Amino acid sequence: MGLQDDVARVLITEDELQTRVAELGWAINEVYNDDDRPLLVCVLKGAFIFLADLTRHLAMRHEVDFMEVSSYGAGTESTGVVRILLDLEQSIEGRHVLIVEDIVDSGRTLAYMARNLQTRGPASLRICALLSKPARREVDVELDWVGFEVPNEFVVGYGLDYAEEYRSLPFIGVLKEEVYAKSG
Ligand code: PRP
Repeated sequence: MGLQDDVARVLITEDELQTRVAELGWAINEVYNDDDRPLLVCVLKGAFIFLADLTRHLAMRHEVDFMEVSSYGAGTESTGVVRILLDLEQSIEGRHVLIVEDIVDSGRTLAYMARNLQTRGPASLRICALLSKPARREVDVELDWVGFEVPNEFVVGYGLDYAEEYRSLPFIGVLKEEVYAKSG
């Protein structure tokens, strides 16, 4: 009866996720120092768990802020339309900005975000994405750090949802087709 019953198989285990997130943290530690005081921009909602884990591996002084954009309806396909639902609280002019994203699918969300944030005059703009699904890419985006490349399957867990559920699963799993086939 649990959420886990809707998962066909585990793609990335909790241990693998935690190990990789720590590695990403160490790699990011090589790039910024205290004086940079980077601003991590968490792309809500999917990236909130990744951000929470990643931030605790960062050694330099840094801040976090949040942006929510929407490219999907309740289904599984990107509409290509990106809307800002929640904008940053602070100005990023002259700041070192690191976008933290859970998954890059078509690339439209990040392409839009990078373009939008770039117009605000940051000192630098980098992107760290936990997952990338290259098979689905429609727009090229340069990713500075990627946790895992995943196959073209419907993945949930560790922040990623289907119809707002499954975000709390501690692993990345493939959703059973019958779960999302039901709602078309
Ligand atoms: C997902 C994901 C990315 C985006 C990737 O967000 O978190 O932000 O889609 O897709 P793209 O590369 O095709 O643009 P979603 O809109 O599902 O919102 P959520 O993070 O709130 O679940």
